[in-house]
Amino acid sequence: MTGNPKAATTADRVDCDIICVTHGHGDHLGDTVAIAKRTGATVASILEISNFLAKSGAKTVGFNIGGTAKVLETSITLVPAIHSSSIEFAGSEQMVANPVGMIIDTEKPVYHAGDTSLFSDMKLIGDIYKPVVAMLPIGDFYTMGPEQAAVATKLIRPKFVMPMHYGTYPVIDQDPKTFEGLVKKQSKAKVVILKPGESLEV
Ligand code: NI
Repeated sequence: MTGNPKAATTADRVDCDIICVTHGHGDHLGDTVAIAKRTGATVASILEISNFLAKSGAKTVGFNIGGTAKVLETSITLVPAIHSSSIEFAGSEQMVANPVGMIIDTEKPVYHAGDTSLFSDMKLIGDIYKPVVAMLPIGDFYTMGPEQAAVATKLIRPKFVMPMHYGTYPVIDQDPKTFEGLVKKQSKAKVVILKPGESLEV
């Protein structure tokens, strides 16, 4: 949130129980430690990032790709994402830790793809976890763009698909309506476009 011109709230006001960190890039790890320490929230992440954050005093659960952890009352499974992932924290760049996507909850599973390119195993993620909601990056440049994300939607077959990771910096400027048009041509998924601060109840 800090340094993001589109953020609808600030790190010292946000309240949460669980923080899911898909990878260590600064625009994702961001305010994690400050929020976790202030709220007592548990950070769910891949082992190396969790171990790193635990040294800063955050409460963490560290597991690995393919595995499921019960974090408080919520089931979280780590799935692959194709991306790079250094850990950028407090102005320095540390070791590398694999990026992940996450399947959150089993009753109404949400697939948060993290930062990723398109990959054909997204079909397998759809087959096995049957996500009701898929959150997919559409920004291009650092992740897949709208065309690839529309193909991903076809592979995953969620009920709702939510575009993300666009519109914060000029290089990832995208019109989510373009994505919506592409999805409509090849999938039955309903595209849900949220503004910062809005939420979706399923
Ligand atoms: Ni990234």
